[in-house]
Amino acid sequence: MVANVCVSLTNPSQLSAIDPRCEFIEFRADLFCEGRTPGSWKQELASATHQLANHACANSQKTILTIRTTAEGGKFPDDLKRVELFKSLAPRFDFVDVEYSSKHRAALLANFAKEKKEVILSAHLTEPTIQPVRSPGFRNPKGLGSGVQSPVLQDSRPKTQNPKSEAILKAMHKAAPSAIKKIVFTATKQSDNNVPSKLLALAKKQNIRVICFCMGGKGIASRILAPIDGSYLTFGALDAKSATAPGQLVHSDLLDFYSELDFAAINPNTKFILVIGNPVYHSLSPKMQNFALRKMKLNIQYLKLRADHTQLGDILGMLRGGRFAGANVTVPYKEAVIPSLDSVDPEAKNIGAVNTIVNRKGKLMGYNTDGAIVPILGKTVKLKRARCILLGAGGASRAIVYGLKKAGADVTIINRTLDRAEALARAFGCKSAPLSLESMSRLAAATLFVNTTTIGMHGSPSGSDIPYLPRKFPKGLLVFDVVYTPIDTPLISKAVRECNCITGERMLIAQGVKALELFIGKKVPDEVAVGMHDVLLNYIQ
Ligand code: ATR
Repeated sequence: MVANVCVSLTNPSQLSAIDPRCEFIEFRADLFCEGRTPGSWKQELASATHQLANHACANSQKTILTIRTTAEGGKFPDDLKRVELFKSLAPRFDFVDVEYSSKHRAALLANFAKEKKEVILSAHLTEPTIQPVRSPGFRNPKGLGSGVQSPVLQDSRPKTQNPKSEAILKAMHKAAPSAIKKIVFTATKQSDNNVPSKLLALAKKQNIRVICFCMGGKGIASRILAPIDGSYLTFGALDAKSATAPGQLVHSDLLDFYSELDFAAINPNTKFILVIGNPVYHSLSPKMQNFALRKMKLNIQYLKLRADHTQLGDILGMLRGGRFAGANVTVPYKEAVIPSLDSVDPEAKNIGAVNTIVNRKGKLMGYNTDGAIVPILGKTVKLKRARCILLGAGGASRAIVYGLKKAGADVTIINRTLDRAEALARAFGCKSAPLSLESMSRLAAATLFVNTTTIGMHGSPSGSDIPYLPRKFPKGLLVFDVVYTPIDTPLISKAVRECNCITGERMLIAQGVKALELFIGKKVPDEVAVGMHDVLLNYIQ
């Protein structure tokens, strides 16, 4: 089973930006025509359609033609002219999107039925009027399924008179039994996201193909969960700038999200944990966490989601919903998420960053587990009063400095930019020094040396050699490098002859195990943690 993602285009010039994993391409011809004079658009549109069809055919992608009128929130001025345009362009497309509220719906449906064209019958509701399913059977409200413009759509009647979702579905099914029904509405609160799930479950039972999700920032959960709940597809934007509807995520981000999904194991009780960052596609957390979740037979799946900063608030709002157990947060949002949380653990507050958010009955609790490596270091050397030298004063060093200080270590922060080292040292009561031959010579009398910079990382512009390293490392020094691509960094390779070394992936595991324990509320068995390590090593090497 795959999650179908459809990307909406307004212009064939955008074709090259489509992720090849994307199954569907929607062409918003009304947006293409906007501002063009009829004389020019007809020809341009024909050539655009040709280009699009050829591209989709070569890449085995399905195409959808959509032309929305201004009355439907689109840009095409006239419903009757739309009928003509539809008829002329439709032969090049796999699907046509017919608006349920169109005056000419019956004529269009009859025409496409004759031509055996697949139809998506779309209803865009103006508000979340859909009520939870209470009794079996349908109520068919007056005006629905009659072939005339439905009063339910774009209407201003009081909420109480609006029909239930299943009534809308039934009316649409009556109007076009073989069409895929698309029912969308704007979410005004998180709980609105439950409505599409219920409707999709109902449609599944009745073997009706349905696309259903909520629009708007508060509807992000339903857009993501739609294919998981059985929606025929979900829509994604080409990129962050060209979203055609509020709350739309970028299609490649949706595809990355679904790439980790184990569809066969999903049921209505499955919960999700995310890792949120930007970028996040390289994150190995889903691999190791899904291994652990499967091993512990937990009905939870761990997925990655790139978050654009403009959508971070809505994504955090989504985490309050019952389908999400929480999220890990990575660069660059570890500080930015804090104001949106309901409470922050004192340790995370002191560090000034959150990397784990737990959803406790709709309340978001923030934690920081990045310091979980410190007790592991403490198993090799006694940290109390130990002289520790930390290279680097960026985000990666904060939680380690905090943990070392808490363990009673004597910490010196060395950094290329002295100001940053001084600021960090002030915050946690440490010493600081600029990166120099003199400061690095202090390694001779140290117990622990930690590299928290990106020096030595594959492809890092920081280079591969830490300056001023001693030619011979002091015996008994413990060296820890946070870099784990490669595992044997230039620092580790040099130090390993004389020193005890701990490699960077241990920090990833340690923070992941501690975060998982917070999500599930129980200890992760040691053998599971060992398995997580093996999984990681498989992907790193
Ligand atoms: P992160 O949040 O992942 O720690 P960061 O905030 O960019 O990343 O910090 C990277 C750290 O690596 C910084 O301490 C940086 O030193 P500056 O504060 O002087 O920028 C350090 N760093 C990066 N490249 C370096 C290099 N070539 N030589 C020395 N230090 C370097």
